[in-house]
Amino acid sequence: MEKLVIKGPTPLKGEVQINGAKNAAVAILPAALLINGVCTIDNLPDISDVKISCKILEKLGAKIKWNNKNSVTIDATEINTTKAPIDLTSKFRASYYIIGAMLSRKGEIEVGMPGGCQLGARPIDQHIKGFESLGANVTIENGIIHAKADKLKGNPVYMDIVSVGATINVMLSAVLAKGTTTIDNAAKEPHIVDVANFLNTMGADIRGAGTDVIKINGVKELTGNATYSVVPDQIEAGTFMLAAVATKGDLLIKNCITKHLDSITAKIIEVGGIVEDYGDSLRVYCKNRPLKANIKTLPYPGFPTDLQPQIGVVLSLAKGTSIINESIWESRFQYVHELNKMGAKITAQGNTAIFEGVETLSGAPVSATDLRAGAALIIAGMAAKGVTEIYNLEHIDRGYENIEQKFNNIGAKIERIIE
Ligand code: EPZ
Repeated sequence: MEKLVIKGPTPLKGEVQINGAKNAAVAILPAALLINGVCTIDNLPDISDVKISCKILEKLGAKIKWNNKNSVTIDATEINTTKAPIDLTSKFRASYYIIGAMLSRKGEIEVGMPGGCQLGARPIDQHIKGFESLGANVTIENGIIHAKADKLKGNPVYMDIVSVGATINVMLSAVLAKGTTTIDNAAKEPHIVDVANFLNTMGADIRGAGTDVIKINGVKELTGNATYSVVPDQIEAGTFMLAAVATKGDLLIKNCITKHLDSITAKIIEVGGIVEDYGDSLRVYCKNRPLKANIKTLPYPGFPTDLQPQIGVVLSLAKGTSIINESIWESRFQYVHELNKMGAKITAQGNTAIFEGVETLSGAPVSATDLRAGAALIIAGMAAKGVTEIYNLEHIDRGYENIEQKFNNIGAKIERIIE
């Protein structure tokens, strides 16, 4: 068993480079299945979700060549099966993108129900509704999703809920369909724009990504033969921004798109931090104890749910009482129990948590209940007095490249220990 041992407190100081976005990468890799040819994808984060995505592509027949740990060349000319490997697809959520991509490319796919972080019910009804609107027949039996279509036809799709996954999945299925698909009430996250940019670079015709109406004109074939670089990770950048505030540090966060971080910047300013915006980098510092703030998580451009646990650490240390309302996931307060073991005073009920700010946290053994909860506990460990031990690292390794090394380079004292 592996654990992180963190000695705190350590104010973070220095520069950190942001990697490519996990949630863009795990959609762009299956999108490569649409290409009847070769493409190269750069700036991939070196994380387990990306490695598993590549293994799934290989099992379907694509040829994968690693150029270095962050770049891969994929030849998807030959796709020789429509059965995805269940042992791999059950390991993470984004495996559902195989459905949209394979429906579009091969007209059929059989895949297990996706895995991923346990954040409450994670239905895929909007994905299925979209595929069916384009003419696919989708059945789920004994945990296996089977989707089939003779020839997908473009159609209007209205999303009942703003969903990142369903927006991308329907976009994937529409790329090679006959005619035009419009997705109304589409999600607008930066990774949606990134997947559309990737597909357009490879020959697709997608317009409006980043707005709530996306129009996809079906094309006959994607020929690829191009190189694409994944967008910087908004959530990784936000994690470092909030770590700077929680540890009363001073960080220059490089290689980020600062516009994607507006909602986080606004909250950091509200709690008394300073953010200097240089376009592709941000300096974030906070000299004093943070002030209280209220937060509601929302789809982009609102405050992201994927940074809710991390800002929860800041608010647990703030002067006064703060409230977080989680409007995306029903169980994203599991970290509260762990943070309370470190001396935080948080009460969570339903989708609301009340943070009575304390002056200091103290180190304790805790468990990463999901990916972002794990990141939050690392931040808490660096801000707390004493030794924090974090267990269940597989969640953290799914989404952050080299996280302890990156924090150690800017002043943290984190050791990974194999027991
Ligand atoms: C993506 O999940 C991200 N994962 C999540 O990041 C992120 O928390 C989430 O978007 C919201 O931003 C990936 O991109 C791989 P949704 P996704 O569909 O696409 C409901 C992380 O920590 N819904 O936008 O699965 C759903 O229950 C992870 O990196 C339906 O009701 O999320 C939720 O309440 C965790 N029916 C809301 O919509 C559907 O068919 C938003 O979910 C689909 C979703």
